[in-house]
Amino acid sequence: MKFTDSPVIELRVRDTLLSLHQDNGSIHVGTSVWPCSLVLVKFAERWAHSRDPNPYAALLDFRSKRAVELGTGCGGAAMGLFLLGLTDVVLTDIPAVMPALKHNLKRNKPALGKALKTAVLCWNNPDQIKALNPPFDVVIATDVVYIEESVRHLVSATAALVKPDGVVLLGYQLRSPEADKLFWELCDEAFDKEKVPHEHLHPEYAYEEADVFILRKKRNHEQNS
Ligand SMILES: C[S@@+](CC[C@H](N)C(=O)[O-])C[C@H]1O[C@@H](n2cnc3c(N)ncnc32)[C@H](O)[C@@H]1O
Repeated sequence: MKFTDSPVIELRVRDTLLSLHQDNGSIHVGTSVWPCSLVLVKFAERWAHSRDPNPYAALLDFRSKRAVELGTGCGGAAMGLFLLGLTDVVLTDIPAVMPALKHNLKRNKPALGKALKTAVLCWNNPDQIKALNPPFDVVIATDVVYIEESVRHLVSATAALVKPDGVVLLGYQLRSPEADKLFWELCDEAFDKEKVPHEHLHPEYAYEEADVFILRKKRNHEQNS
């Protein structure tokens, strides 16, 4: 599974085919569908209803969980997880990406209905964070670590949004060595991280550079921050 410049990316989630329209020519990276979003959804699909001994059963039991996605772009990750049972989810991004997101939600309305909410959230904006009414059980983020200057805001927004016993589902690919270094330094202060072994990813949606991480707040982080 590789990044593709086709204008339409199709993603089958169980019995439903999502169709995501992307514009790779835009100056906004959020109008493209980034592969880690697909890797995260297909990982979750593989395990969400698995009858095999399932190390992710509790993680992917989305019943009565509230979720938010940061830097959702075209919305593929949240849409896919919605089809796997994550029904209370708000998709967020910067204002410039909202038209592409809304276009894709409309495009997939037959499959999704009107249940998915959207909101503008710039990671450095405490009022927008507060308006979302945190904390959330689940924070979703895929392919959002690529600008060193925004990493500190990303990590602090994530920490502000997730419950003390909540989880962050992170689709990750190294995009910038500087952003990567700072991101993991800051994450190590706030979160414990678990890397999903590659053999647990969906075999058709796995490649060497892409990872799924599960982040959980460190027990002492609330007191220290
Ligand atoms: C590489 S794209 C990934 C989009 C989508 N998550 C995916 O995997 O297809 C990064 C996303 O993060 C958003 N983003 C970047 N900096 C941001 C910031 N400071 N506040 C909010 N969103 C931001 C971008 O607008 C974009 O949608």
